[in-house]
Amino acid sequence: EQINKGKYEHYMQKEIHEQPESVTTTMRGRLIRGGSSKAKTVLLGGLKYHLKTIRRSRRIVFIGCGTSCNAALAARSIVEELSGIPVTMEIASDLVDRQGPIYREDTAVFVSQLGGTADTLLALEYALENGALCVGITNTVGSEIARRTHCGVHINAGCEIGVASTKAYTSQIIVMAMLALAIGGDTLSNQARREVIIDGLVDLPCKVKEVLKLDNEIKDLAKLLIAEQSLLVFGRGYNYATALEGALKVKEVALMHSEGILAGEMKHGPLALVDANLPIAVIATRDACFSKQQSVIQQLNARKGRLIVMCTKGDAASVSVGGSCRVIEVPQVEDCLQPVVNVVPLQLLAYHLTVLRGHNVDQPRNLAKSVTTQ
Ligand code: AGP
Repeated sequence: EQINKGKYEHYMQKEIHEQPESVTTTMRGRLIRGGSSKAKTVLLGGLKYHLKTIRRSRRIVFIGCGTSCNAALAARSIVEELSGIPVTMEIASDLVDRQGPIYREDTAVFVSQLGGTADTLLALEYALENGALCVGITNTVGSEIARRTHCGVHINAGCEIGVASTKAYTSQIIVMAMLALAIGGDTLSNQARREVIIDGLVDLPCKVKEVLKLDNEIKDLAKLLIAEQSLLVFGRGYNYATALEGALKVKEVALMHSEGILAGEMKHGPLALVDANLPIAVIATRDACFSKQQSVIQQLNARKGRLIVMCTKGDAASVSVGGSCRVIEVPQVEDCLQPVVNVVPLQLLAYHLTVLRGHNVDQPRNLAKSVTTQ
């Protein structure tokens, strides 16, 4: 049934709309109430015999390509926060090109939807040679990455057919948030934070369902952007990855230039691009970076930027002060899970732009789902 389009016109559309179910499947059987304290906890069976080693690592290195790399970036800070272990990011091809440092004391986490991506496999070879503990996070049972890593977690998102990865992205973030909880363990200092994240995870399918209701609104937005040459997406903190991933989706399927930009870098170059014509999406949902994003919006408004602001429900007035921006309001979830919700309007935007521009949604030109060559 998963490989039929059902009521949808394209696989990408189906896979975007399937996310309330796919994120549920990803979490199934993994969030439990355990022990006499009835504390909520996370059970990742595939890591059972390796958690102690992971906790003793000097460093966690996330390795992947494209969307999988963006998912790891979205989860980076929650893994650092709960584990207390430094997390670094590596694009698989770049790690191999540089022969970058990987040590025996490292835990190398390989993130790949397919589990057979050539660049990621080469990086895995390299990490194994260097003696790191290798963990695989894939969507494909029996894939090469699943087989060759020492341990791992399947994301269980179901078959993804569209070349543009959508539901795998949200499930990857969830698995890495659960990984953070599992490595962090049941320490007292983490307990309150852990509990709200687990509650947030349980609530997430409803929030994803809610954000999908923006579909028509996003289609209208796509109509306004149909003839544009370019779209910038500004994000920071947890949602820097959302900016990168939204831009990747737009360029990959809508064949429109798009760039995800770390908002903290705005004054160091990108500000020069701002004028009344170039559309700029700014992700400004509630988290520790919110006031900084408000200031970014003000600075872009001051330069007459053509803004589309994604904010938390109820915040429209506070983000559009003094400007005439278009606002997308999304439901609020725990900060580290917000990227799961925030990426959905951008996936929908990429989808509708592609259809309106008359491009092939599921098979974008020059791209393949399975990248098995370097
Ligand atoms: C995602 O939309 C892309 N098609 C691409 O970036 C993809 O994520 C990348 O090739 C990695 O694939 P993997 O996750 O299967 O390893």
